[in-house]
Amino acid sequence: MTKHIKGNVHWVGKTDWEIRRFHGEEYSTHRGSTYNSYLIKEEKTVLIDTVWMPYAKEFIANLKKEVDLDKVDYIVANHAEIDHSGALGELMKLIPGKPIYCTRAATMSLKGHYHQDWNFQVVKTGDRLDLGNGKELVFIEAPMLHWPDSMFTYMTGENILFSNDAFGQHYANEHLFNDLVDGCELMAEAMKYYANILTPFSHFVREKIAQWSDLNLPLDVIAPSHGVVWRQNPSQIVERYKEWSGDYQEKQATIIYNTMWNGTKAMAENIVAGLKRSLGDEWNVKMFSVSKGDKNDIITEVFKSKLVVAGCPTINKGVLSAMSGILEEIRGLAFKNKKAAAFGAFGWSGEGAKMVEDGLKKAGFEIVAEPMKAMWAPDEESLEKCREFGHRLAQSVK
Ligand code: FEO
Repeated sequence: MTKHIKGNVHWVGKTDWEIRRFHGEEYSTHRGSTYNSYLIKEEKTVLIDTVWMPYAKEFIANLKKEVDLDKVDYIVANHAEIDHSGALGELMKLIPGKPIYCTRAATMSLKGHYHQDWNFQVVKTGDRLDLGNGKELVFIEAPMLHWPDSMFTYMTGENILFSNDAFGQHYANEHLFNDLVDGCELMAEAMKYYANILTPFSHFVREKIAQWSDLNLPLDVIAPSHGVVWRQNPSQIVERYKEWSGDYQEKQATIIYNTMWNGTKAMAENIVAGLKRSLGDEWNVKMFSVSKGDKNDIITEVFKSKLVVAGCPTINKGVLSAMSGILEEIRGLAFKNKKAAAFGAFGWSGEGAKMVEDGLKKAGFEIVAEPMKAMWAPDEESLEKCREFGHRLAQSVK
């Protein structure tokens, strides 16, 4: 089913209600996702992006109901990742030779994925493509948002920014527009998407937003490649991206832990008690089991935090696998300007807490206290030390 966006622009994408894991198994999509493709029918007919490969045939069948494929003049590939380029293989079998407008880097990634020598038309920032009816497409390279090959495409006359991954959300919804969906759900998904996908590229985000402001182009609609289209106050998501890309923090302390026999869990609960007593109600103090919680949701909470306290018992002279896994993911996301400390219960060798601290250091966090350790099941004296530990950590961020 297609949906009208604005003027002669329609959404011809795919709503994926079922997907629960994206990027293989790496990203949880509790609310599904969408792969947004847009069809422009001015004097020239243009298709912007496609859909994920499993939906290629369905996409083309639907597209044929909207337009005679031979009448498509141009294809724009804003980004080659297969959630957006996945139907190109099927499409180009039907209309070989049609020009594909993309960045030079995208010619490499598209050839790398599909091993075809399609009619690539390389564009750079500021290049324009006439659509007729007094309207044009303006291309804006956007490297690292989300791959080196990414670009934005802006449509004059309708003032639509087709931003591809940037400003997206993994959020399936029967309403395609931001003013028609639950605003809290929408912002939660937009933030999760930023925290888990775009954080490492925050300085590119800041540069791109500054460049966009300098272009001084009117903006009525931001049409990303995932989730809803921002048509009501589209600048709101640009403003949020400015905040999120600026080493974002809220008044939040997050405790992440795992446990075997509840010793480290008891420590976590008492560190939370010390933090809450010292930080007061203005602060959120949250605690998550990394074995039981959703990794990407926990990472979103880390993204929001000024202080991260991570705890793990010792096993086999190391740490439990869920903790080492999430610490590695946090390292890759390169969060900035966060304070941290480690803790853990142990029975024998006891390296766990120190190894967690090493993981936090590798992630670039500022360690504000020596690791808190408790031998065997923590007794009341140990738990009081944990509450004091929480109190001391609180002083480092107040
Ligand atoms: Fe939605 Fe980077 O692909």
